[in-house]
Amino acid sequence: MQLSETFEQMDAYLERSLLRPDPVLEAIAENSEKEGLVPHAVTPLQAEFLAFLIRITGARRVLEIGCLGGYSAVAMARALPADGYLLTTEIDTRTAKVAQANIEQSGFGDRIDLQVGPAMQVLEREQARGTAFDFVFIDADKVNHKNYLERALTMARPGTVIVADNIVRAGTVLDADSQDNSIRGVREMLAYAETLDGVEMTALQTVGAKGYDGMALFRVAA
Ligand code: DHB
Ligand code: MG
Repeated sequence: MQLSETFEQMDAYLERSLLRPDPVLEAIAENSEKEGLVPHAVTPLQAEFLAFLIRITGARRVLEIGCLGGYSAVAMARALPADGYLLTTEIDTRTAKVAQANIEQSGFGDRIDLQVGPAMQVLEREQARGTAFDFVFIDADKVNHKNYLERALTMARPGTVIVADNIVRAGTVLDADSQDNSIRGVREMLAYAETLDGVEMTALQTVGAKGYDGMALFRVAA
């Protein structure tokens, strides 16, 4: 059996053991696939990991950078208290329409604000407004991974947790000479992390239905 097949089967086994049927997220996954969105959403176990972090940190205001079909946005919004708020960004108009429909269908639309446009523009606007976030999930284009982290840190408070997706990319991120803009973007984020002070940091390498990848975790020291 191919190792990737083991990852997939193990993911499915853990899902069966640890997760419960989730018609809300399943409907989003199905509709996103039907609408032809790229299969880059987080997995069910990863969605629960994000929700778990939101619950244990007591986050009330969440920023998601990169919405895609709204799968992770709904998973995270659902973990918030009733007065919680989640802002998510999507650059592609058609994708945003699919996401908005998925979000409305989910029943959590009242606490999700989907803003359409390049994430950096949305973030600049929010920063100018003085918005602060307790939890940030960075999962848009990897070219701007470092820029998103930098910007997220300006909208953080002591205790804010930031999670950055896709920092391993099957180990291709090891290649310092790579001409791939996504790899370069991730490496820029990691180089930037080396310069940070007052931020607790770690990373998790992950395997599963989406192959071999990883997430970086940041927490602004309290
Ligand atoms: C890609 C992007 C993602 O956010 C992800 O989780 C997996 C892959 C990509 O652009 O290749
Ligand atoms: Mg991702």
